[in-house]
Amino acid sequence: MTNSDLLLQNIKAEKPFPIAFSDLEKAAKEKLEVGPFGYIQSGAGNEQTLRNNRTAFEKYSITPRFLRDVSQLDTSISLFGKTFPTPLLFAPVGMNGMEHPDGEPAVAKAAEKLSIPYIQSTVSTYSMEDVAKAAPNSTRLFQLYWSKNEDISYSMVERAEKAGFSAIVLTIDTVMLGWRTEDVRNQFSPLKLGFAKGNYMQDPVFTEALPDDSFDSYVASVIDNIYHPHMTWEHVAELKMRTTLPIYLKGILHPDDAQLALENGIDGIIVSNHGGRQLDGVIGSLDALPSIVEVVAGRVPVILDSGVYSGIDVLKALALGADAVAIGRPFVYGLALAGQAGVEQVMQNIYEEFKVSLALAGASSIAEARKLQLVKA
Ligand SMILES: Cc1cc2nc3c(=O)[nH]c(=O)nc-3n(C[C@H](O)[C@H](O)[C@H](O)COP(=O)(O)O)c2cc1C
Repeated sequence: MTNSDLLLQNIKAEKPFPIAFSDLEKAAKEKLEVGPFGYIQSGAGNEQTLRNNRTAFEKYSITPRFLRDVSQLDTSISLFGKTFPTPLLFAPVGMNGMEHPDGEPAVAKAAEKLSIPYIQSTVSTYSMEDVAKAAPNSTRLFQLYWSKNEDISYSMVERAEKAGFSAIVLTIDTVMLGWRTEDVRNQFSPLKLGFAKGNYMQDPVFTEALPDDSFDSYVASVIDNIYHPHMTWEHVAELKMRTTLPIYLKGILHPDDAQLALENGIDGIIVSNHGGRQLDGVIGSLDALPSIVEVVAGRVPVILDSGVYSGIDVLKALALGADAVAIGRPFVYGLALAGQAGVEQVMQNIYEEFKVSLALAGASSIAEARKLQLVKA
């Protein structure tokens, strides 16, 4: 199917699936309850970071090249020793049972079908073992939220190894939860509702440490463990020694932290501000990218997330030096609207727009996309 077929299919459809991010968000708002929608859509504090993520993309314009043969496109990338057909990944998004009863397994099945790497969150509704069973041929990465009880962290990493995960993504920007005013406004906490059960309740170290088997104890223990402000580079070094899996750090925004990541033998970097959900008033993720790419100088992959909502955004991120991008809220809205099929549709739409944009900019491969000229207005 060509990209224009995809668009035309939608034009003939009785109820077209939303393509533009704003339409997707609007449709999800109609479908979801106020609490879950607010939890997904909002940013921390006054949402300056959330806005910065988008203005960062809109400040850049592409200077295209023409009269180059763009009839054959190669959009493949290599990560974790494998080749993937698109430069996309699924960002780790917690508690998917909140958007759809099929939860994380539905997303992993979409990832398997489209050959897009899937990063599963620590705070998942379904466990990593359930996800591995549902999508055995997917490439899965496990996103680790460090636990105050460090043995829980090591236990989860060991389970990820056993369950066939290809890498650990350690999120470093969430040593405590951000200041989420929308959730307070809506009196909503998915953690307190039990949506993060999957990985914790199947963890022998976590369950062993519970004072009793009540729901309240489980919730209190998850919340207690997620709070880990003492985490430092020493923990990263220790984790590195304890696993043979590659370790990616998610949440790097400062070039000096990228340098420290390299010195600590980190295998990849995800430039991210958590979609504006952690510290408010932070630099747009795309604005942080060029100086990090410069420091890294091709030694490890650099992946960007936060605000990547269209194929054009993907192209701009690559042109500024990213090796790949991770998609967050768009696929979550797709999941809310139509389960696995909705996730597939969203990712396909972004990918097809990316291909059109790549060709129209005069590039035929990811390497050529990374050489495109961008102008900052
Ligand atoms: C509802 C929601 C839940 C999230 N949960 C996690 C999580 O469990 N772990 C994590 O590292 N990042 C989490 N993130 C952040 C995403 O991985 C990613 O950084 C962010 O969504 C990118 O921004 P975008 O939504 O604008 O694409 C979450 C984001 C959203 C929207």
